[in-house]
Amino acid sequence: MSIKGSVILVTGAANGIGLATAKRFAAGGARVVMSDIDRERGEAEVQELREQSYDARFAYCDVGDPDSIDQLFAHLDSELGRLDFAFNNAGIEGNLVPIDTSDPSDWDRIIAINLSSIYHCMRHEIPMLRQAGGGAIINCSSIAGLVGTQGGGMYCATKHGVIGITRATALDVARDKIRVNAICPGAIDTLMVQRAVGANPDLRSVIEEMQPIGRMGTAEEIASAVYWLCQPDAALVTGIALPLDGGWTAR
Ligand SMILES: NC(=O)c1ccc[n+]([C@@H]2O[C@H](COP(=O)([O-])OP(=O)(O)OC[C@H]3O[C@@H](n4cnc5c(N)ncnc54)[C@H](O)[C@@H]3O)[C@@H](O)[C@H]2O)c1
Repeated sequence: MSIKGSVILVTGAANGIGLATAKRFAAGGARVVMSDIDRERGEAEVQELREQSYDARFAYCDVGDPDSIDQLFAHLDSELGRLDFAFNNAGIEGNLVPIDTSDPSDWDRIIAINLSSIYHCMRHEIPMLRQAGGGAIINCSSIAGLVGTQGGGMYCATKHGVIGITRATALDVARDKIRVNAICPGAIDTLMVQRAVGANPDLRSVIEEMQPIGRMGTAEEIASAVYWLCQPDAALVTGIALPLDGGWTAR
């Protein structure tokens, strides 16, 4: 399946990595369903894409709520009737504290949004991709899915889990011409990092200095990798967890 004329769902598409990916696929001629809890920003971005004659639509979904995910797919099925690609991207950093000082409600929330969402979305995506004759699913993990980070116990658990469910599911659907991969971004300059940097501009240079390439990645660089993973050129690639981290995990 080529990108042109395909249907792709992107969750968490109102900002950051999801938005850059939605734009990339729209420019490639895909019909893009942009889903998010940020309706105002999502609808504004959709309108901007439509003004450039791209095929984009907004669909509200809180991926932390399985009922909301069911409604998203019911809507997608009735409006477009097919799905070729899915980028399960929506996620939160949550409360970055050691687990003994965390609140159990933080754990329940981050598990729901970052990990259970992948399970609930893929349950719907796989039958739709199968019906389309194949396709690709990209799940958003992180370098925190490959290594531990201090104070990141809850976030790391979700992102390690994303890789596990990706690998196992890739094996289950390989004969259906459905490829399932995870991406593992390093520090990417989006709202997520900007929230962490907050009012401390020195922290930005500390983060940059910690990167082997000496800078953070951009959302567009992640979008390029997702785009490639959906292309026929990546036909042999399934079940991987691809670091996109400027060398971070090479150490
Ligand atoms: N930025 C980084 O450094 C980095 C690194 C590794 C992995 N990631 C992962 O990349 C993904 C995207 O992150 P980003 O940096 O673009 O973040 P971001 O905060 O800039 O954007 C996240 C988007 O997800 C949406 N969202 C949040 N909760 C949601 C929910 N419950 N339902 C639906 N949408 C929801 C937000 O409204 C926002 O539009 C996340 O899964 C994140 O964990 C980011």
